[in-house]
Amino acid sequence: MSSQRDRWAELTGGQAGEDYARRFERLAESGQDIHGEASFCDALLVPAARILDAGCGTGRIAIRLAELGHHCTGVDVDRSMLAVARRHAPAQEWLHGDLTHLDSLGLETGFDLALAAGNVIPLLAPGTEPEVVRQLATVLRPGGLLITGMGLDAEHLPLPEPTVTLTEFDHWCTEAGLTLRERFATWAGDPYRPGGGYAVSVHFRSTA
Ligand SMILES: C[S@@+](CC[C@H](N)C(=O)[O-])C[C@H]1O[C@@H](n2cnc3c(N)ncnc32)[C@H](O)[C@@H]1O
Repeated sequence: MSSQRDRWAELTGGQAGEDYARRFERLAESGQDIHGEASFCDALLVPAARILDAGCGTGRIAIRLAELGHHCTGVDVDRSMLAVARRHAPAQEWLHGDLTHLDSLGLETGFDLALAAGNVIPLLAPGTEPEVVRQLATVLRPGGLLITGMGLDAEHLPLPEPTVTLTEFDHWCTEAGLTLRERFATWAGDPYRPGGGYAVSVHFRSTA
């Protein structure tokens, strides 16, 4: 594990799993679609794709993607979040691990998609972001996708201020052999305009 605590752990003390899951249950009960990320990814994938849900949390997205026929591995460092995922989908693969050291988990590489949704990138431990992007790129097959969703202002983050700019993020991706394919403002596919507070980015692995 990395010596530095990630921002999510700083924020929650590693105890947020049940509350986080309840928040989405309430949204679903109120009629909101809580599967926007999964639908977005599914539209870009071949059937029965191999997916790494990086920072899978309570498994909300990976469980939906599995229902849609994909093969998902969830990785998260927060045991309270993973406990919910394991309870809801015991047959799925849930790994406790730090994305900074993804290579220590012994994963079979060649994933079609690495997904870091729900502000995973802005919530990493400060300074670890380039290494996490590099690790995610490494597990992809050539042509495989990295899809991320991240807040770029306080309104779209559970943090007082943004921690990552798109310029920095795109630079880390380029360094990791990833090329930007498309960028949106929402998981519904609204167009991203410079200065927007949220970005859904689709990068692909351009190097073998
Ligand atoms: C806001 S939650 C999002 C969970 C899920 N992706 C979703 O959208 O529902 C952010 C997650 O990132 C995870 N995370 C942050 N840094 C991490 C790291 N270095 N390794 C693994 N998981 C990490 C946290 O533990 C947390 O579960």
